[in-house]
Amino acid sequence: MINTDTIEVIDQTQDILPINGTDYIELYVGNAKQSAIYYEKMFGFKIVAYKGPETGCRTHVSYCLEQGKIRLVITGAMDPDSYIADHVKAHGDGVKVIALWVDDAEKAYYETLERGAESAIPPQRLEDKDGYVITASIKTYGETLHTFIQRSNYKGTFLPGFIARESKTFVGDVGFQYIDHCVGNVELGHMNQWVKFYEDVLGFKLIVTFDDNDISTEYTSLMSKVVSNGNGYIKFPINEPADGIKKSQIEEYLDFYKGAGVQHIAIATNDIISTITELRSRGVDFLYVPDTYYEDLKERIGEIKEDIDELKKLNILVDRDEEGYLLQLFTKPIVDRPTLFFEIIQRQGAKSFGKGNFKALFESLEREQGLRGNL
Ligand code: FE2
Repeated sequence: MINTDTIEVIDQTQDILPINGTDYIELYVGNAKQSAIYYEKMFGFKIVAYKGPETGCRTHVSYCLEQGKIRLVITGAMDPDSYIADHVKAHGDGVKVIALWVDDAEKAYYETLERGAESAIPPQRLEDKDGYVITASIKTYGETLHTFIQRSNYKGTFLPGFIARESKTFVGDVGFQYIDHCVGNVELGHMNQWVKFYEDVLGFKLIVTFDDNDISTEYTSLMSKVVSNGNGYIKFPINEPADGIKKSQIEEYLDFYKGAGVQHIAIATNDIISTITELRSRGVDFLYVPDTYYEDLKERIGEIKEDIDELKKLNILVDRDEEGYLLQLFTKPIVDRPTLFFEIIQRQGAKSFGKGNFKALFESLEREQGLRGNL
């Protein structure tokens, strides 16, 4: 197979769908009250707003959490007869919505429908004393949605219907800044179809391709393509499994998530050493990479600012591309099923995704998969 590892220069003026950034990521979970505190205590997000029976919403409860520029919404059903409960029953806790902040949600919705998107929720005007927002949702892979959010006429904490809430459980942030990229796993043979969806419907550009020569170990392999919007704020790598001797990690995901869905959310920090130190002290579990990874690190990576012994102690990975280097680390699954996890990333010039770490990483992932009896 041909390695088509390419990075294009993107012309922003040609964006058919201008997106200002990720507005929020919403998870559907089995117990929102408890999960919200988990993301707060373990990962440093702070509960800032709430919606539920007390605010007039009788079908579900939602907590909005913030850290840096990131908003996480944690939603749980109040009734078994609910699309939220159905989602949790099928997929376990997982990402339902990647919301995109736009200047004109109706235009984004109707134009993407014209270009082939499937509607999930038609445009709605949500209003309260702080103003109004326009929202509209289209479907992407699996049961995941993209919701367009237009909020220029709203000055409340999060969205109409939510009330601001002072957290009594917050113990401090961990230095998370913004969402660097958000990765989807899709079924075998479906990667190109979803890349085409992002290109044709949302006007994204293909920026990187990894094939199974890049990402394979003795057992498993995968293929991945990364699409990005014009300003580069939104990057969506799409993975599909490739043939290996044993079950690929993407297949394990698809088996347990019962279909395509969000595999990981990569979060940027300006100081990965302090972020990982803090996360480890809070009990967050990360993938383990053996000490041998660090033996020839200097030869592979060249000069870096950080102390290699410190990186080794915290098990942080490093990779270099033409533009600089990056530091990264992956949590173990953050939910019950081996599906969703976080990546913590610090970019020192590099714009790539840590290709040089894939092999070390996948061997580590396979160890975990073996422990779960899924290899
Ligand atoms: Fe990633």
